[in-house]
Amino acid sequence: MACKRGALIVLEGMDRAGKTTQCKMLIQALQQSGRAAEAMRFPDRTTTIGQLINAYLEKKSDLEDHTVHLLFSANRWELVPAMKRKLEQGITLVVDRYAFSGAAFTSAKPGFSLEWCMNPDVGLPKPDLVMFLQLSPAEAALRGQFGNERYETRVFQNAVQQKFELLMKDPSVNWQVKDGSGSEFHRLVSFKARRKN
Ligand code: TMP
Repeated sequence: MACKRGALIVLEGMDRAGKTTQCKMLIQALQQSGRAAEAMRFPDRTTTIGQLINAYLEKKSDLEDHTVHLLFSANRWELVPAMKRKLEQGITLVVDRYAFSGAAFTSAKPGFSLEWCMNPDVGLPKPDLVMFLQLSPAEAALRGQFGNERYETRVFQNAVQQKFELLMKDPSVNWQVKDGSGSEFHRLVSFKARRKN
């Protein structure tokens, strides 16, 4: 029996927006409604490339900015065969961060254009839906201080937010902005992903 392709659903958002929790809830809801669904996250810190990225994020190593950008992208590309296999098996993938984070974070650094940052990811599987979890800086602050990882500063996060806002203007991407602050997310379980089968 032919099996319908799974949907590729991406969650993006600022730190503290609750992406990881929401990914878990969405997977649970999908599974309860009888759909096969699995989680993925980027960076995937378990691979050899992912370990280089992890050391960089934890400030245990320094990497040149272009280099680390390309490593983040390579980390996505190395997972593409597995992603395609799962989607073809009818498994819906709920992905915590994707190429949009790649472009938003690096282009928030001085000297990086959004266009240059997006190029290495051209050709990745296109998400059926990208949910951006919006959280005001005030509410983010209530959720605790940033941790110790690289990029976890208020100034840098504000710059990243502005880059996400530019990315969300792309009409070829099925963006949905969701309020990450309250119970709004519960309504996501009734989402309708535009699917390309
Ligand atoms: P995480 O906290 O969701 O594991 O993300 C790790 C950090 O890496 C976070 O600050 C966002 C950043 N990042 C990039 O700079 N480029 C990327 O391509 C991705 C996926 C994340």
